[in-house]
Amino acid sequence: MNSERIKALADEISTKDIVLDVGCDHGYLAIYLKQHNLCQEVYVSDISKQALSVAQNNFKKYHLDIQSFLSDGFENIDVNITTAVIAGMGTSNILKIIEHKKTPSRLVLASNNEHYRLRKELNKRGYKIIDEKAILEKGHYYIILLCNIGKQRLNYKELKFGISNNDEYYQYLIDKNNEIISKVPALKKLHLKLDNLLLKGLIERK
Ligand SMILES: C[S@@+](CC[C@H](N)C(=O)[O-])C[C@H]1O[C@@H](n2cnc3c(N)ncnc32)[C@H](O)[C@@H]1O
Repeated sequence: MNSERIKALADEISTKDIVLDVGCDHGYLAIYLKQHNLCQEVYVSDISKQALSVAQNNFKKYHLDIQSFLSDGFENIDVNITTAVIAGMGTSNILKIIEHKKTPSRLVLASNNEHYRLRKELNKRGYKIIDEKAILEKGHYYIILLCNIGKQRLNYKELKFGISNNDEYYQYLIDKNNEIISKVPALKKLHLKLDNLLLKGLIERK
């Protein structure tokens, strides 16, 4: 549970928030929030009975009283929440979950893939990304978005590389592009080279 990623998700939560961790799995985020008194209340949910029972066992182990819901997204949620955390899933799943009418205005999202599509679709659906972090854990970067209802039109660079302002993350993207640049067709090579120029511009902007 001693995870930089869990801590970074918790950092986006304010003490006024009534939180639902959608797809809680082990329940570690809720345990961390509760143990450190970081929100007004926290609930958890998961679509998987098995995952929920692991979470419930963990809550017992830490002597914590956390209400849990077996639910596909917000479907069976019958408590009022101000904030939903949806982390560790793919963009398609996240976008489907937040179509529900019970989706709260404040969202903490951490997708496993397609970050460009997620940012673009959030703007299109009337969400503003108000904070973004790129967190390195065990050699992998996790992108965490804090969103609220609001108008925003991120430009191509912001949609593609995010607004974390994390130069180490931008350099990591450049290095990843360089690793594959010699193995891809000419047009893709050109795209990767252009992306790297934009990324270098971001790093040198200060
Ligand atoms: C990889 S785990 C991530 C756990 C945790 N959120 C984290 O970030 O460490 C993904 C969890 O999401 C759950 N899940 C997937 N789709 C879901 C949905 N539509 N509604 C609720 N839970 C879902 C899965 O059952 C699984 O437990």
